Amino acid sequence: MLRGSELRKSGAIGWLTSRRTGCQRRSRERRRCQGDSLVKIFITGGAGFIGSNFIRHVLSLGDSYAVVNFDKLTYAGNLANLQSVAGDPRYQFVKGDICDPDAVTQAMRGCDVVVHFAAESHVDRSIYEPAPVIQTNITGTFILLQVARTLSVQRFLHVSTDEVYGDLSPGVSADENFALQPSSPYSASKAGADLLVRSFVRTYRFPALITRSSNNYGPYQFPEKFLPLMITNAFGNKPLPVYGDGRQQRDWLYVEDNCRGILAVLERGRDGETYNIGGNEVLENLEVISRLLKLMGKPESLITSVADRPGHDRRYALDCTKIEKELHWRPHIQLDSGLEQTVNWYREHADWVEAVRRGEYRTYYAKYYEHRNSALEAVMSAEGTSLTSGAAGEERGSRKDRTN
Ligand code: NAD
Ligand code: DAU
Repeated sequence: MLRGSELRKSGAIGWLTSRRTGCQRRSRERRRCQGDSLVKIFITGGAGFIGSNFIRHVLSLGDSYAVVNFDKLTYAGNLANLQSVAGDPRYQFVKGDICDPDAVTQAMRGCDVVVHFAAESHVDRSIYEPAPVIQTNITGTFILLQVARTLSVQRFLHVSTDEVYGDLSPGVSADENFALQPSSPYSASKAGADLLVRSFVRTYRFPALITRSSNNYGPYQFPEKFLPLMITNAFGNKPLPVYGDGRQQRDWLYVEDNCRGILAVLERGRDGETYNIGGNEVLENLEVISRLLKLMGKPESLITSVADRPGHDRRYALDCTKIEKELHWRPHIQLDSGLEQTVNWYREHADWVEAVRRGEYRTYYAKYYEHRNSALEAVMSAEGTSLTSGAAGEERGSRKDRTN
């Protein structure tokens, strides 16, 4: 069986699979003693929603993988998401910023492959405070690529999004060659990062791949995002804030399906290629909320229309023929069953929700929901704009809120 340093020579397609098959022949005990026979994955942003689900997923598959979770622990990073694997000898956590090349180099050394989740991932925050989004999503990705190349990692999987394709007309679905037409600072930063990855593939023949997934939902999602926000508000009989007319369409993908897709691409994708990963469940936001309320036995009167998101994309939809044909990946969880599992998870994890809501979230919610109109007014008049960080903007935004 190949050792980590010899992986690249084994050829692009299927190298990880053949390595794992080899691993599986060994006894569990023997593999444990030979730590170097595990594929060591350097995961960025593993304390967030998808990253933590991915870590639990790969560690549940047997003894093929070890994981280094490199995470800055921003408001979105939460080590409680990884409590179940914290004591696993195959799991290691390193607190650090992907924009810090020395810290990245130190932590990535000895890892075979990289799966890059870390990002400022919320579109609304990127509208109010774009500077940290550009820094982490573009500069951070660039630093990771540089370090990974220097250390000769065998594969680099960059986790991107369907939002890079922008707002789609009715009936259109984007395949991987669709033009990149991002609308928000968030999606523009992800498109910028995708192009950097592409440039490393083309210029340096760097073995990188990209996945672009649709809207994920499921356990451990931070409740600033649509579904967990609606679920947790509905539990408390609080208003469900629907942006604009609520007729925007998103394609909903259960997070475990995305994790399986990402792993399939890591193991069997072709170097330099991009793979869409969608749930094939394109629905209007209001339709999703109706299903949710029915499931939870809550009244439609909770639905409350609020001011729209600036630049709000009306519709996303992915053509996933490539990953289906090449890698035989398909989503397993349909929306109705995924919604039920998600609602149950949030019901059973009220402590997790409570802890998250006690933190920075409380300020965020007050500012952008309870004082939504003035916050939007400030950002649209560029009054809250800071050229270097969000701090000055925050001060100005809250001064205006107080006059409301
Ligand atoms: P998240 O916001 O839940 O988690 C992001 C994680 O990255 C957090 O743990 C945070 O602490 C960490 N992080 C942020 N800045 C960092 C930095 N500078 N250095 C190190 N760590 C840092 O995000 P998510 O929803 O899990 O999304 C993960 C990835 O998937 C992102 O790249 C996002 O763009 C992409 N994506 C998300 C979705 C979705 O629906 N959530 C869909 C498609 C693509
Ligand atoms: O499409 C993939 C993207 O999905 C990811 O790249 C992003 O990281 C992720 O945040 C998500 O972006 P969206 O903007 O699509 O997700 P969000 O949960 O913020 O909103 C989903 C839809 O619901 C969108 O049309 C806006 C609307 N919405 C959202 C919130 C938070 C509301 O109507 N009310 C709300 O309070």
